[in-house]
Amino acid sequence: MKVLVTGASGYLGGRLCHALLRHGHSVRAFVRRTSDLSSLPTISDGVALELAYGDVTDYPSLLAACSGCHVVFHAAALVEPWLPDPSRFISVNIGGLKNVIRAYKETDTIEKIIYTSSFFALGSTDGYTADESQMHSAKFFCTEYEKSKAVADKIALEAAKEGVPIVAVYPGVIYGPGKVTAGNVVARMIVERFSGRLPGYIGYGNDKFSFSHVDDVVDGHISALDKGQQGQRYLLTGENASFMQVFDIAAAITNTKTPRFSIPLFVIEIYGWLSVLFARVTGKLPLISPPTVSCLRHQWAYSCEKAKRELNYKPRGLTEGLEEVLPWLKNLGAIKY
Ligand SMILES: NC(=O)c1ccc[n+]([C@@H]2O[C@H](COP(=O)([O-])OP(=O)(O)OC[C@H]3O[C@@H](n4cnc5c(N)ncnc54)[C@H](OP(=O)(O)O)[C@@H]3O)[C@@H](O)[C@H]2O)c1
Repeated sequence: MKVLVTGASGYLGGRLCHALLRHGHSVRAFVRRTSDLSSLPTISDGVALELAYGDVTDYPSLLAACSGCHVVFHAAALVEPWLPDPSRFISVNIGGLKNVIRAYKETDTIEKIIYTSSFFALGSTDGYTADESQMHSAKFFCTEYEKSKAVADKIALEAAKEGVPIVAVYPGVIYGPGKVTAGNVVARMIVERFSGRLPGYIGYGNDKFSFSHVDDVVDGHISALDKGQQGQRYLLTGENASFMQVFDIAAAITNTKTPRFSIPLFVIEIYGWLSVLFARVTGKLPLISPPTVSCLRHQWAYSCEKAKRELNYKPRGLTEGLEEVLPWLKNLGAIKY
């Protein structure tokens, strides 16, 4: 099959392109002129990979890239907790999906769209574990990113009801080897922790996230192509745990000391405000911002039973996943232990 991948230069998209090629598909990677292509396989003789340049907000470039494709994996998004211009979340994350749906309608060959949503699109789950039946209440959003993914989710589901063959998949916090972009939060946190710049735990372990290994998420996307049903939602989540547990597991794997204290979230929030001020001056996006802290004040725990049952999704445990991540970061020279 000829497959178009948006967000191909990203953390998830790059690994997805590698896997699709291994599965024998012919891949057209939709990238921007400014994209760093290091996550993509090298284009050489015998590699069924081609590049299509454009921007998801530039409809003609997207329509041209769709020509002759049978499947679109729409993984492109702005994955940041904070941006100086929040309207970009709307134009890219919502407008981009609308353009993909419009391009489907104007292209004869497309049979299926796999849309990469996010656990954020379902909303927080304080005190319980949610499944695919949860719709975002839309009463409060921790981040503009969350809001954009929740709005885009409704657009995807409505399009499916109108006959667009779209399947939505919802990864948890993606971690594992790959490009260290803003989307690779766990790798970035571990680097901060091992460098000593983050001396303690983040809060008191009341946060909860669902951690999905990138290669499990990639497999889930490919299964969604084969087995996913139009209009169905599939959570591609994993073990539900706090960042405190991530640091404890990392310490056990590396035989290093666990942090000796917790940094209260209000202190991290002050640091977040300062980081945002700094970002406004330098243009360098912050790792921690007040919206990040808002996410940490909630729980985001999900069940992936439906994907296990219907997509044969097989998420690995957090310890098994981190056993791969820590040596990988060490080999990169990003951490020492
Ligand atoms: N990372 C996570 O923990 C996580 C969790 C749940 C869901 N997701 C979803 O998974 C998908 C991939 O995330 P990721 O972690 O791989 O993020 P990422 O590494 O930041 O990659 C984002 C990709 O989108 C592309 N992109 C951004 N704006 C674009 C535009 N206007 N036109 C075309 N391409 C554009 C980027 O291109 P450039 O290289 O040119 O910037 C990049 O290839 C996203 O839809 C995200 O919402 C991620």
